[in-house]
Amino acid sequence: MSEISDRLIIHRLAHTSGVDSFADDVRAGLKGKKKSLPPKYFYDDLGSQLFVAICRLPEYYLTRAESEILRNHSEEIAASICGPVRLIELGSGSAEKTRYLIDALLARQTLLHYKPVDISPASIEESSRELLKSYPRLRITAYAADYFTALRAMMEEPSAKDERAMALFLGSNIGNFEMDEARVFLRAVRSVLDRGDGLLIGADLKKSSDVLVPAYDDPLGVTAAFNINLLGRINRELGGEFDLKKFEHRARYNESEGRMEMYLVSRERQTIAIRSLDVEIHFEEGETIHTENSYKYDTDQLTSLARESGFALERTWTDSLQCFSFNLFAVR
Ligand SMILES: C[S@@+](CC[C@H](N)C(=O)[O-])C[C@H]1O[C@@H](n2cnc3c(N)ncnc32)[C@H](O)[C@@H]1O
Repeated sequence: MSEISDRLIIHRLAHTSGVDSFADDVRAGLKGKKKSLPPKYFYDDLGSQLFVAICRLPEYYLTRAESEILRNHSEEIAASICGPVRLIELGSGSAEKTRYLIDALLARQTLLHYKPVDISPASIEESSRELLKSYPRLRITAYAADYFTALRAMMEEPSAKDERAMALFLGSNIGNFEMDEARVFLRAVRSVLDRGDGLLIGADLKKSSDVLVPAYDDPLGVTAAFNINLLGRINRELGGEFDLKKFEHRARYNESEGRMEMYLVSRERQTIAIRSLDVEIHFEEGETIHTENSYKYDTDQLTSLARESGFALERTWTDSLQCFSFNLFAVR
């Protein structure tokens, strides 16, 4: 077995779209009439760890459903692309579920090249080292970067001619995009793929708000901490002066839009300085910052999304409760 360091390359590209864009996006998001912050900023070191804790909550059915699908179908999924295959993962996080697919692929081929992308450098570093410890036949080229930066970097790289690519986008990440953003993102993924390659998308399905709301507003308050940590991050990185106790977490299902929404709600009238931006932000009591949308899908929407972004929805797998879907988008 070769040393872990011989099998690991990490491209740290986060800085190319990092601090400046965080500052710019916070300024733009909090200065507007309707305040909002992009969800990709949840994932600093603490936020990434809080997300791992969310995945363990009984109310967060998404991770259990995805694990069930992978436990039952990863061999079939691995066989759906004529290998040998290299595995690309966008927003890989802790990559715990990816192990099912790595197992299935390594049962079919001698070596596997895994290319995870995540905006959180800590997640990329830790998950890559853990995977390499477990799998001596794995090699990793990782990208600590925003999706688009990493996809651009991948396009420049040569890839083995005899290999097909299987790209993964798990954890309902697709749900964080508006429909037009999802199409732009999928076309960017399509541009690093060729005929015969596939993209596996984990999409949460539409269901009762009785199930949805507790998944985003758990009684232990872990999701609340994950949401409020966004203000903590502004304090730490941009010299913000938010008193975290003066904001509360809110989650609601917007039935007409088919999406879960998360907000931070100001508990009182207050004005907050953010020193490195040289701005002061005023909040009325009850005023909100919109921090996340999580769209819930149905098969028709997934079929159209695939068609509109250069793919065809070839196959869908669901869990036993029909909560969640894995969708194989084949390159057209
Ligand atoms: C909902 S978590 C899912 C993690 C993992 N795929 C899973 O299923 O458990 C979203 C992951 O995507 C990463 N992420 C979010 N926005 C991103 C972006 N714009 N570019 C790259 N990674 C991003 C986060 O750091 C986080 O690890």
